Amino acid sequence: MLVSLVPRADVVGDVGTGDALVPIALIRAGKARKVIACDKSAAALKICRRNLEQYGLCPNELGSIELREGDGLSPLKSGETQVTIIAGMGGLTIAEILSRGPLDVAGLYVLGPMSHRKDLRLFLRAAGFTLIDEAIVRQAGKFYEFEVVVPPPGDGVCVPSTAERMRERFPLMLEGEIGVLLWERRDPVLREYLVHREEKLRALEGRLRGTSRAEQIGRLRKELLTLLSKWDFR
Ligand SMILES: C[S@@+](CC[C@H](N)C(=O)[O-])C[C@H]1O[C@@H](n2cnc3c(N)ncnc32)[C@H](O)[C@@H]1O
Repeated sequence: MLVSLVPRADVVGDVGTGDALVPIALIRAGKARKVIACDKSAAALKICRRNLEQYGLCPNELGSIELREGDGLSPLKSGETQVTIIAGMGGLTIAEILSRGPLDVAGLYVLGPMSHRKDLRLFLRAAGFTLIDEAIVRQAGKFYEFEVVVPPPGDGVCVPSTAERMRERFPLMLEGEIGVLLWERRDPVLREYLVHREEKLRALEGRLRGTSRAEQIGRLRKELLTLLSKWDFR
């Protein structure tokens, strides 16, 4: 899913590349002429080198992946990539990397948070990123979401359109919980996610019955049910 969200580009950056499987997949899918795979961990880059040797890449493919050590976006130069991926880490870590910048290393970011998706969405909105695309997949019972965003122009002026659209569509407690584009296109996996989330909240509400937390959870659950009841109406 991650690779499918990356538009064909000359140079793609991969921040927190881990095992280099994403760069390998990008090159094999013909998505980029060159991938700059970055990680702050020297140990991770060692695994990358081993994988690059073991995955049987031809010399041309091998020459297309450059490894760089460094924190966040710092190993990349201004305008060096058209697309940069930051995936496989927590949403708060991704938000922190983006907030430290420099954002002009890419014109487009493809993000794959493993947790704190709501926090990341709210951060992106507040920081003025424009949402271009979203995707959700379910694998082994877990849901994974991806966002494709354009960084704010210049010094980070807020782009109100996404925020406004979110506010129009979602009640307060659900803000940032649900991908607005997934909702707009009625993605069937989003529906599965909403049903799954409602079931989890119902169980939690039962366990905490009688506490103020249970009331809060109950309100959120009702909002989810209201949203689900609107699924067939556009
Ligand atoms: C679980 S791996 C993810 C690998 C790959 N991106 C994926 O999605 O499969 C997370 C990697 O992010 C790296 N990482 C975490 N914080 C980072 C940061 N601030 N800058 C660069 N790399 C970071 C870690 O060293 C680790 O190798």
